Amino acid sequence: MTENKQKSAIRPTDPAPGGSPHELDWLDGDIPRSRLFDDTYYSRHGGLAETGHVFIGWSGAGRRWRSGSDCTIAELGFGAGMNFLETVRQWRAQRQGAARLHYVSFEAYPMSRDDLARTLAPWPELRDLAPLLVEAWEPEAPVIDIAFVPDVRLCVHFADANARLPSLPLLADAWYLDGFAPARNPQMWSEELMREVFAHTAPGGAFATYTAAGWVRRNLEKAGFEVSREKGFAGKREMLRGVRPL
Ligand SMILES: C[S@@+](CC[C@H](N)C(=O)[O-])C[C@H]1O[C@@H](n2cnc3c(N)ncnc32)[C@H](O)[C@@H]1O
Repeated sequence: MTENKQKSAIRPTDPAPGGSPHELDWLDGDIPRSRLFDDTYYSRHGGLAETGHVFIGWSGAGRRWRSGSDCTIAELGFGAGMNFLETVRQWRAQRQGAARLHYVSFEAYPMSRDDLARTLAPWPELRDLAPLLVEAWEPEAPVIDIAFVPDVRLCVHFADANARLPSLPLLADAWYLDGFAPARNPQMWSEELMREVFAHTAPGGAFATYTAAGWVRRNLEKAGFEVSREKGFAGKREMLRGVRPL
């Protein structure tokens, strides 16, 4: 994508972050699609398997908890919490010793509780965890900060990541960059925000994302990450991961 196209892309300014519930259409009955961004929340072919491949796998988070280390994961775009719940599911099955999980995410246009429940309902794998999230969901608050299950702390900031991240004392081991397609939501992939992501990554920590867009890769490189192209999930040729050098 060229810089010009980036600038002329639709920049959603309404509703205001934290304002009225995000308006959705439903594809095939249960896949939410944002009207504001004209994009779906997850790939109809991927779902949880894509979370495992792209985010848990390539960010190094899984490797970390399998080695018995505590893990702080940060995410741009909490959405319906599918990445979060799948992360907790895999963490519970795989973690060694007493390794703890801290998950911090940002969501500027939160779903209503009913839409969250509807999005999560079709996933049998999440049957025991999804109701806990629905119960805790309070998008009117500025932030949710809870002990989700023992040894898992969940913190969701209901704010524009561009505004909230810079002031947070956060150092993540792994970042999931999941803010809708870059062409439809360029402010979630800007050089400024990627610099903030880098500044909030522990040395040796990593990000993973499904996109392989050239301008996003360049923004991440300019921010300081050592970026590589990896095999994408299923039909997707490439995705990106990057490491903050030690
Ligand atoms: C692809 S969805 C995320 C899916 C989610 N990770 C999941 O597992 O369900 C992208 C999310 O980014 C949110 N978003 C878009 N722009 C944002 C911004 N500037 N700050 C915070 N969140 C934003 C959208 O409202 C949407 O929920």
